[in-house]
Order: sequence, then C-alpha cells, then structure tokens
Amino acid sequence: MPGFGYITADVPFCPLSPTITAELTFVSQSANESTETVADALRNDPRLAQAKRLVAEAIGDHASRLSVRPSAESLKSTFADLIDRLSAVRGGPPIWPYLSSGLGRGAYVELADGSVKLDFICGIGVHGAGHSDPGMVAAAIDAAIEDTVMQGNLQQNPASVVMMEKLTALAQASGAELPHCLLSTSGAMANENALKIAMHHKTPADRVLAFDNAFAGRTFAMATLTDRPNYRMGLPLTFPVDYLPFRDPANPERSTRWAVDELHRLLKRHPGRYAAFWAEPIAGEGGYYPGSHEFFTALCQPLKDAGVPIIFDEVQSFSRTSRPFAFQHYGLDAFADIVTVGKITQVCATLYSSEMKPTGPILSQTFTGATASIATGIEMLNRLESNNCFGPSGQNMQLASSFQDALASLATKYPDLVRGPYGEGMMVAFTPGDGSFDFAKKLMMHLFDIGLLGFVCGGDPTRIRFLPPPATTTQAHIDHAIELLDRGLATLP
Ligand SMILES: Cc1ncc(COP(=O)(O)O)c(C=O)c1O
Repeated sequence: MPGFGYITADVPFCPLSPTITAELTFVSQSANESTETVADALRNDPRLAQAKRLVAEAIGDHASRLSVRPSAESLKSTFADLIDRLSAVRGGPPIWPYLSSGLGRGAYVELADGSVKLDFICGIGVHGAGHSDPGMVAAAIDAAIEDTVMQGNLQQNPASVVMMEKLTALAQASGAELPHCLLSTSGAMANENALKIAMHHKTPADRVLAFDNAFAGRTFAMATLTDRPNYRMGLPLTFPVDYLPFRDPANPERSTRWAVDELHRLLKRHPGRYAAFWAEPIAGEGGYYPGSHEFFTALCQPLKDAGVPIIFDEVQSFSRTSRPFAFQHYGLDAFADIVTVGKITQVCATLYSSEMKPTGPILSQTFTGATASIATGIEMLNRLESNNCFGPSGQNMQLASSFQDALASLATKYPDLVRGPYGEGMMVAFTPGDGSFDFAKKLMMHLFDIGLLGFVCGGDPTRIRFLPPPATTTQAHIDHAIELLDRGLATLP
C-alpha cells in the first residue's frame, strides 16, 4: 500500500494572507500543475516500498524462531538488573517482570530475558494485532516518514482527519448520531473531554452518575469518578458522583429493578443537577460484568427523559463484541450522546453528537496523538473489519464462545480453582480459587512463568481476565491458552 494513499477525505484548507500568497507564487506556479504533492511523490517512491518489504522480511525471518519458552540462563542477570533499574526509576517494582525484547509474532511476545509468552492481555487490550505485526510495522514506517512525530491542535496531517472520520462512520453505522470526534493521547483524557463536553452542555449541573466499581482512568477528575477509594487516596474530590448498582448476570431482573429504583430516587433527590451518566457498557476493571440491552434501556430511557447526557466509555470494550462498539452490540444507539475509545485504537478519542457540540473553546490539546499512533490506529480499524471480527457469527463472538466453553470445562475439572467463565465477547475472565486478590495474583504469576499472560480485574471477587488480540487471534491460540492454563492449574504450588 503506497503510504497514506488511503486518504480520500477532503481536508479543510486555511485561506492564506495576500502577502504569503505573493511569496508562494513561484512555488504555486509549478505546484498548480501537479495533482500530487511532493510528499505524495515521496510516499510513492519505489525505494520506500522496497525498504518496507525488506523490513517485513527481516522481522518475519527472526520472529519465526519464537515459540513459548522459559528465560535464557545467560540473560537472567542482565534482565534482573533491568528490572531493578525499572523499579528504582519508577519508584516501586512493576506488578510483574515484563520488559519486551522488542520482538514478537502476533499473539506471542519475546521478553528481554529471552522467554516467549502467549500474550492474552496485550497491555490491557492495546495490542489488537499482537506483536511485530507486519501491517502495523508498515503503517508505523509510513508514519516515520511524515514530517512531524506528533500532531496537535494547530498542526495536523490528513491522517488525523481520516482517523476521526473512520471512527465517526463506525459509531454512526447503526443509527447513533455522533458526527464529531476529538483525538487525544489517553483514555483518561478522552473521558476528561467527554465530561467537559457534558458539563459545559448542562451547566450549572455538576453531579455525575456512574456505576459501582467503575473505572475511568487516572486523572484528577477520573480518580473522582472511579469507584476505587485507594485510587484517590489523599486526593480531593473534583465533583459529586452518585453510584448505581451494575447488572448482576446471576439475577438480571432484580438487579435491573434495583438500579432503576435507585436512579429514580437520585433524579428526584437532585433535580436538574446531573450533568452526565457515565458508563462502561461492559464493566472492565470492575470485574468483566456484561451489560445488556434490557438493563441499559431501563436506565437510559429515564435519563434521556430527564435530559441527562449519556456517556459510554468504550476504552476497553471497543472492538471486542459482535460490533465495533459495545453500545451497538447492546442496541443502545439511540442513547449515545458521547462515546470514548482508546487502547486498541492506538490513539484515543471522544465522539459526540451535534447537540453536545461545545459553544466555547473548552477543547484543545498540544498533542492529539503521535503520527505513528494515528497511522497504526487507521491500520487497526481496517484490520478489525477485514479480519471478519464483527457480526453475530464473526470471529470475536465465535472465538469468545469457544474460549468460554473451554474455561467452563476447566471449571468442571478444577472446581476449587476455577469459577466462571465471565465477560462478553473477547473480554473473557474467570474467578480463581477463593476469589481473593492474593490467590488471583499467585495464579497470574504462575501462569506468567509458564508462558501465559492474563491479568487481574475486579475487587470482590478478584478475577483473571484475558484480552486476546482480536485482529490476529485464531482458534489455535485459544487452544494454546487453555493448554497453558490447564498446566498452570495442575502445577500451582
Ligand atoms: C474503561 C476504561 N476507561 C478509561 C481507561 C483509562 O485509559 P488510559 O489508561 O489510557 O488513560 C481505562 C483503562 O484501563 C478503561 O479500562
């Protein structure tokens, strides 16, 4: 693919002042006759295509040697030294001794100690095509020859427009009205922007509704919204938040009734004071609890009637269900006023409706994203679609169902060690042992040593979750994960 040749959108142009126009006359005389820019000519230079081919070949040759194995004896002490330096410089040890060597093969990653792991957590859902993916590398090379490393409020390249348009097109595919998009560099910032948009729209309302166990990110405002007291230890609260109980899959009707009753009570207690209802359609950090059409409709209709803007946080759930967005998977298109994405999209974003469009300059950022994040984000969106991830019987739902079936078999085989499965689509979890954090962490670390990467989530109980990379996972990867998990359970000290 010749560089950014996939850019088809009209790019808004700023009119130049007469003086600058005069100064550019010489350039424009020749430029006018051309239908491509000099940069297009660079992108189409056959030497670049050849360079990309050689890079892909070299990566492929070396990566083909990677399969799950323990660390190399000869690298152990250098690796331990690196981890010590990491602990010192970051002011505490990392949760696990992970430092990538810089090479992988799809769902497999080589660490700097020479070990190779099956990565079913992928930076908590970031590496949607796994590691050293040829398409992502090619997109990153395209980005590397762009003129700037970062893009932002004042200077963006056409790829930013393409990314924003792709996200809005996907979000509006089944009826949601979300024509606007703002890129940002983290999920927390995308959520900050979402709340700013909602609060600006609803001023002077200042309260927010969220769910028990919500996780929104690590900024000041998101630490207030997140339902984890230890994540806001020593921090003042930035606005009042009221929490509703989330759907209990073991008792959906009763939990829906509780949540709706509580919502009505709060709307009556604080009339006109709610600036937003902020929700993850599938509770992520809170423990992989799925929502449902019925549950969310029962809450969103009264919220809509009360004029409370609805924000769906899809930073973790985007790309993991039968549709790109989990709000689409649950048929909630009519309720989405603002939606945030991040992680797998490589660059984060806040999408919003025409009604929510701010009337003042409240949104702007020096960095909206790295050029490589934007280019690889576009590649990722293309890959998710071309890999047949979506649809009721697309890859996501099929692989997830086979993964869940296999976990259910392990629950039968190890009734004291595995409860579940839980989750939705390619967000898969189980509860290990007694559901305590200590037990879950012990098993997680044992699996790490054996070569399977999963990660804890939820508080009571603590679960182990998996986020397989949807653009590259196959049935063989799922089978391998189950084999490693089985071995881990059988040998847990
Ligand atoms: C649902 C949800 N929202 C927001 C965030 C914050 O994203 P980031 O860590 O990129 O700021 C996360 C991160 O785990 C998340 O899971």
